Amino acid sequence: MLFEKIKIGDLELKNRIVMPAMCQYSSDETGVVKSWHLSHYQTRAVGGTGLIVIEATAVDPDGRISRNDLGIWEDRQIEGLKKLVDLVHDSGSKIAIQLAHAGRKSKATENPIAPSAIRYSENYSHPREMKKSEIKEMIDKFSLAAKRADLAGFDGIEIHAAHGYLINEFLSPLTNKRADEYGGNIENRTRFLSEIVDGMRKNWHKPLWIRVSASDYAKGGNEVEDIIEALKILGDRIDGVNVSGGGVIHEQHIKVYPGYMLEDAKKIRSATHLTTIGGGLINSYELAEFALNTHCNLVFIGRQLLRDPYWPLKCAKEAGIDLEWPFQYERAKIY
Ligand SMILES: Cc1cc2nc3c(=O)[nH]c(=O)nc-3n(C[C@H](O)[C@H](O)[C@H](O)COP(=O)(O)O)c2cc1C
Repeated sequence: MLFEKIKIGDLELKNRIVMPAMCQYSSDETGVVKSWHLSHYQTRAVGGTGLIVIEATAVDPDGRISRNDLGIWEDRQIEGLKKLVDLVHDSGSKIAIQLAHAGRKSKATENPIAPSAIRYSENYSHPREMKKSEIKEMIDKFSLAAKRADLAGFDGIEIHAAHGYLINEFLSPLTNKRADEYGGNIENRTRFLSEIVDGMRKNWHKPLWIRVSASDYAKGGNEVEDIIEALKILGDRIDGVNVSGGGVIHEQHIKVYPGYMLEDAKKIRSATHLTTIGGGLINSYELAEFALNTHCNLVFIGRQLLRDPYWPLKCAKEAGIDLEWPFQYERAKIY
């Protein structure tokens, strides 16, 4: 199945291999695309990855995870992103952008924001609670970022609602202690994300999906059932889900093993019927096939693609599948 076509929304992919967002910390204060990004992502496209999701890209300078993150908070960042999109398209892959705000986990500001004024750990600054006016402004920032992503030519947008960054901080009861309509039960905790989706949909008519932390891996935190509720609220306004986990609080208890987040992907797919991207330490063709047969529709292959950008081509060769190789490399296909 790995090398069979699939659609997410109306976006057709040549195979089911997704390179998930992975920060490269290779820009500077301008947040623009640098040569590293061009070669890094194009190499994975040459290597046969069906869908590349570029790293968490900040909708606001204070929403960067680090000072070297990519940004999409202003129009002058579009040009570099467009160049990147064109390169990846030329090399045969589709490309999406992960839109993000780091919230209380931003290391790019002394004054981070969060749903509630609770610090992540002693190595992070104390955040301040967002005012309602700031919530509305943030929704506009995501919406404007979607417009810029469209101008850059991206095929899809993934909203980063995982790993304890701003949207995830609203979703989790461990980090959201608000008394207004943005806090409390899961319906209220999903309101910020839901309004972001609505705001983005005004400017973005291509596939849109959400990356979630299916579990906070901590007592009193979200479990997969809560995230299923949140996704049901979003309903058919989204085209899919990418299932990850953790990152919300510093003291999480997480067991890592090949395929460690697949069970949650399976539960989410069966409860929501969304096109589901699953994974977690997938590093072999066999495990990817197993995941696709039983747990999810697409697999994300992260660190394996950092180690080996040509993993899809090599994987198909070892499995005896005749894939189209870049013509420049065809002499390496057999011997
Ligand atoms: C260097 C690095 C940077 C990452 N940056 C992001 C990111 O920007 N957004 C995100 O959602 N996940 C990020 N992740 C998590 C990966 O997308 C992926 O979920 C994780 O590595 C597990 O998949 P794997 O076992 O296949 O690597 C990052 C992981 C790595 C190794």
